[in-house]
This record gives sequence, C-alpha cells and structure tokens, in this order.
Amino acid sequence: MKTIEIDIQHALSFTGREAYDSLSQEAVKGIENLESNKGAGSDYHGWVTLPSDIPVSQLEDIKATAASLQVSCDYVVCVGIGGSYLGAKAVIEALDNSFASFMPRGKYPKVLFAGQNIGEDYMAELRDFLSDKRFGIVVVSKSGTTTEPAIAFRLLKEQLEKQVGRSAAKDLIVAVTDASRGALRTLASQEGYKTYVIPDNVGGRFSVLTPVGLLPIAVAGFDIDRLVAGAVSMMEKTRLASSGNPAQTYAMMRNALYRDGKKIEILVNYNPKLHYFGEWWKQLYGESEGKEGKGIFPAAVDFTTDLHSMGQWIQQGERTIFETVISVEASDRELRIPADEANLDGINFMSGRRVDEVNKMAELGTRIAHNEGGVPVIKITIPRLCEHTLGELIYFFEKACGISGYILGVNPFDQPGVEAYKSNMFALLGKPGYEAETQAIQSKL
Ligand code: PA5
Repeated sequence: MKTIEIDIQHALSFTGREAYDSLSQEAVKGIENLESNKGAGSDYHGWVTLPSDIPVSQLEDIKATAASLQVSCDYVVCVGIGGSYLGAKAVIEALDNSFASFMPRGKYPKVLFAGQNIGEDYMAELRDFLSDKRFGIVVVSKSGTTTEPAIAFRLLKEQLEKQVGRSAAKDLIVAVTDASRGALRTLASQEGYKTYVIPDNVGGRFSVLTPVGLLPIAVAGFDIDRLVAGAVSMMEKTRLASSGNPAQTYAMMRNALYRDGKKIEILVNYNPKLHYFGEWWKQLYGESEGKEGKGIFPAAVDFTTDLHSMGQWIQQGERTIFETVISVEASDRELRIPADEANLDGINFMSGRRVDEVNKMAELGTRIAHNEGGVPVIKITIPRLCEHTLGELIYFFEKACGISGYILGVNPFDQPGVEAYKSNMFALLGKPGYEAETQAIQSKL
C-alpha cells in the first residue's frame, strides 16, 4: 500500500546537510524519550502507543453508539473546543463531500460543531436551525470545565430537553470527558448519559484517535477502523530512530530551518478539503512548541486560493518563512477542462487536460518560485484523501511534534500560557473566588 513520503531536498539546499545532520543526536534522544516514556511531560505520552492500544471492544462500542445516533438524529452537534474539536472537524472535512451541508440527509446525519467560539449570533442561529430538527449532542471536554463548550452545551441541552423531553434527551446526549474529574463527568453521571473516557495520559491536541475524534468521525459515516489502522502503520514506521524515519526527518528539518532564522512555518495545501487539517496542525504545533520565548510560529494557507492574498508576502516579504506542503497525489474524481470556440479567456491550450494537472503545475511552479524567492519548501506527499492516509498523517505529525519539541528544548505536552486569558475573563465577569483578580484587572482599565 502506498504511504506518505517526505521530500526535504528543497529545504536542505538552504540550511546545508551539515546543519541538518547536526540535529540527529537530539532527534534520536527525542525518539527514545517518547518510546521509553521519559523526558519532559512524559505523563502525557499516552498517544505514542494509542493507535495499537485502543481495544477492539472500544472501537465496536463507539460504532454502536454512532449507529444509534445515526438512527435517532438528522443532525449531531459536537460541542468542544481546541483539541476537543479540531481533530474531528479536520477528518470529517477532509473526507466529506465539499457541499455536504447543502445536501439533504443521506445515510448519515450531518455533524455540526458548537462550543468552539462564544459567538452569540452563531449559537442563536444554530438554535433556530435546530428548532424543528431531530438532533443529538456529543459533548467533549477533558477538563469538563471549559467555558466555551459549557455555554454551548447548556443552551443546546436546554433546547433538546424542551423539544423531546428530559428523558428522551438523555439518550441523545453522549459525553466524552475525564474518567472521574470535572463538572461534565458529574453531570453525565447524574443524568445517566452514555460516556467515553479521555485517557489521563493523552492531552487534548493529541486526542483525535480517542473517542474525542473517533465518535464524531464514526457518526459522520467514516471508517474509524481504517483511520486507526493508518495510524498504527505510521506508528510502526516512526518507532525507531533512523534516517528513513519520516517524523524524525520532518522534526530535524524544521528545527534546522528555525536555527537558520526561519521562524514561521506555513502549512500549505492545494486541496480545500484540507483547510481544517491546517487548523488542527496549527494547534498541535502552536500549543506544543510556543513557550519559553521559543517556537516556530505555525500558520496555514490554502493554495492556490491564498496565493492571491498571501502570495506577495510569501514571495517577497521578510525572509523568515518556510513552507511545508501537503500534496495529495491523486484526486478521487476526474474532470477535464472543456474547449471553447471563442477562447476569450485564452485557456484553450489547457482544454482536455485534467483540473488536477493544472493544480499540480501550480504547485510545482509555486515551489520553484518560492525557492527562488528564498523560501525553503518541505513536501509531504499523500497518496489520496482516505481514512487510512489521514490516520497515517495524523500520527506522523503527532510523532514529529513530540520529537521536534524535544529538539527545541521545551516540554511539548503542557500549555501553561492558555490560562492567562481565562483568568482575566473570569476576573472581568466577577467569578466567585476571583475577587483579587477582579480588583487588579479593573485598576488596569
Ligand atoms: O490541547 C489542549 O489541551 C486544549 O486545546 C484543549 O483541548 C482545549 O482547551 C479544550 O479543553 P477541554 O477538553 O478540557 O474542554
């Protein structure tokens, strides 16, 4: 079976082989730490062996819950934020029809998302939309106390209970949370919701291959066995340190570029279905590496769309940027450009050729232009968009992230910085227990 491939030659030409090779020992140490459960943040290494640790019985149970929601609901709203949202959203968007939300229900319910923002209009419009629909809720929060999903869940639970009654609502709500702690666990036990556990040793941004991601993905009708099998196969390929380990290669290359002054990485796709994969990747790398005054700034762009907005900056702006391209080798569909007698747009020279061929030439042309403009380019090729490949890609980026964080010299598994805004928000809102913070912040206003 074809697998993902990494090509670093157009990045190595910037740093030189020596700078890259010099990181080899640190990368080997990083892999050893991950594989033998050592190093900073080792309490959160559960994701390393997660793909092969998931019991078949749990996969079967998730599929059974998904099947029950598929029968009872036309819409399932997944409530969560950050790592409790982005993985499921990324996989579903990558695999679904681009116009699925405009189509009538097929075999599977539509999966919607809430709790990933505090938009009052968003929530009000979602409630309006659901007011005459058969819907269910999958609420995901590891801590069980995150404000955004807590607000969304209150609003949706209230609405669902009004629409179907409290007793029926409880069978349409599934909670994915910590085994024993947090408000969501308490509520789920009180109400008798079906629940799944997010393992203690798996952090939010590494949790897509737990029920956090697997349940919504299964509800949307995608094959979670193949997703997990893809992750298992990448786990095998990245277990040992070697020059052929793709995760090690990526981690070393991006750190060599960082040390060479390339402080910004843009993850590029040439397939709009991968837009949310870029969002997932941004969280994975941003939260894992951006600390202690260090870290590559992760950004994501959709090409060729963003070549018409960001292209100028990338080609000629400050030379602190490098690019990692995810290239999908084969499209699922075939579409050829029609000939046109008048040829007013001048594209008859392309007629009869596939749209994907034009896309690939745009990709190659952009790589050459960006290289010549001083932008190193790493290329990751995936055979096609399917569950197996996405499972491989998810695990590849997770493993590379762990290695890369260790090369950078940070704990890749904590996120102390995300608390700052929450504390200020609670102080401003007058949360009990925050009296001193409220006084302090008001004096700054
Ligand atoms: O990676 C993380 O830990 C965070 O992004 C969390 O996933 C996010 O803050 C949501 O947290 P929780 O699942 O506790 O609601």
